[in-house]
Amino acid sequence: MGFCSSGCKMLCRVKYVFLLLLSLSVLAWISMLSGDSVKSALALSVAMLPLVKEEDTQNVANSGPSTAVPLMIPTPRAECPKESPLLQGAVKLNFEPSLQLEEVEGENKRVAQGRYQPWDCTARQSVAILIPHRNRERHLLYLLHHLHPFLQRQQLHYAVYVIQQAGDGTFNRAKLLNVGYLEALKDYSWDCFIFHDVDLVPENDHNLYVCDSQPKHLVVGRNATGYKLHYKGYFGGVTAMSGKQFRKVNGFANTYWGWGGEDDDLRNRVELQKMQIVRPPADIARYTMVFHKRDSGNEINKDRIKLLRQTSRVWKRDGLNSCKYQTLSVERLPLYINVTVDIGKP
Ligand SMILES: *[C@@H]1O[C@H](CO)[C@@H](O)[C@H](O)[C@H]1NC(C)=O
Ligand SMILES: *[C@@H]1O[C@H](CO)[C@@H](O)[C@H](O)[C@H]1NC(C)=O
Repeated sequence: MGFCSSGCKMLCRVKYVFLLLLSLSVLAWISMLSGDSVKSALALSVAMLPLVKEEDTQNVANSGPSTAVPLMIPTPRAECPKESPLLQGAVKLNFEPSLQLEEVEGENKRVAQGRYQPWDCTARQSVAILIPHRNRERHLLYLLHHLHPFLQRQQLHYAVYVIQQAGDGTFNRAKLLNVGYLEALKDYSWDCFIFHDVDLVPENDHNLYVCDSQPKHLVVGRNATGYKLHYKGYFGGVTAMSGKQFRKVNGFANTYWGWGGEDDDLRNRVELQKMQIVRPPADIARYTMVFHKRDSGNEINKDRIKLLRQTSRVWKRDGLNSCKYQTLSVERLPLYINVTVDIGKP
C-alpha cells in the first residue's frame, strides 16, 4: 500500500514537472510569436529551466510540487552600463576579397537568426538595423563582418534586417526602408531604427547605434569625401530614428525611384515637424565607403528636385500609411533576416 501511494505521488510529481516544462515552453513560444516580451521570455527560459531541472530531482526526493512556484520568478539582469566597457574606439577595417560568409558566421556564434542580446546585462535600447539591398552581396558581407562585433561591443539588443528588392525594376531605397520598419515591428517592438546603406562601414564604435531625443545622422564623414560632411543638411547614408520620430514624419516617401533625393525628403519631413537633426562629433562619425560602380536599375532620379518641392504638400499621404508591397519571403539566416519584397514599379 505504502509503496503504491508513494509511487503514485512520484508519478504525480514527474507529471507535474513535465506539465510545468510544457507550459513554460508554450509561454516562451507565445511571447516569441507576439514579439513583445522576447527579452523576458529569453531571461525566463535561461534563468528558469536549469532551476526547474534541479528541482526535478529534489522534488521526487522530498518536497511537494508547490516549492517549484517561487522559483518561477526570473532573476532580473541589471541594465547595461551607460558606456559599454567593451568599446575600442577607432578600429582597423579590412576588406579581404577572400572573406566568406561561413567565416563571419563562425566569428559571431552568439548571433542567432540575425539577432543578438547581451547575456550579462539588459540592453538599454533594442535596435533594428535596416539595410536596403540588391546585388551587393560582397558589400553586405563586409558590412556584416564589421557591424556584428561593433554592435555587440555597444551592448545592444539588435537584429539585422536586409530588405531585398525583388526583380530588376528601378531601385527604391526609401520604400524598402519603410517596408523594413513595418516588417521588423512584426518581430519585436524595437525602440530604435537604423536606416543603413550597405556600402558604408563604421570606423569607430563610439558612434553609438542608439536613438536620441532627436533624429540622428551618423555619417558626418566618409573616406570618399575626405571625412567632411557631404553637404550642409545631408541626411543620408546612415540615420537613426525612434519609432515615434519615424511615425511622426510618416516615414519615407514611397515615390523616389532611382538614386537620390529620398534622404533630403526625409530631412524636409523632420524639419516640417520642428525636429532637429543631431550628429555625433566628426572624429567619431566616420565611415569607409566600399568602392562600387553605379548599379544598373539605380540610375539618378531625374524627378528628385521636383519631388522635393512637394514634400510639405504630400508627406501626410505619401509615407508609411500608403506603403503597399508584397512580402515574397522572410528567411531567418544566422546573421540577418532576409525580407524579400515586391514593391511594384514607378
Ligand atoms: C575608401 O576605402 C575603401 C576601402 O579601403 C576603398 O574601397 C575606397 O576606394 C576608398 N575610397 C576613396 C575615395 O578613397
Ligand atoms: C534573399 O532572398 C531572396 C529570395 O530567396 C534571394 O534571391 C536573395 O539572394 C536573398 N538575399 C540575400 C542578401 O540573402
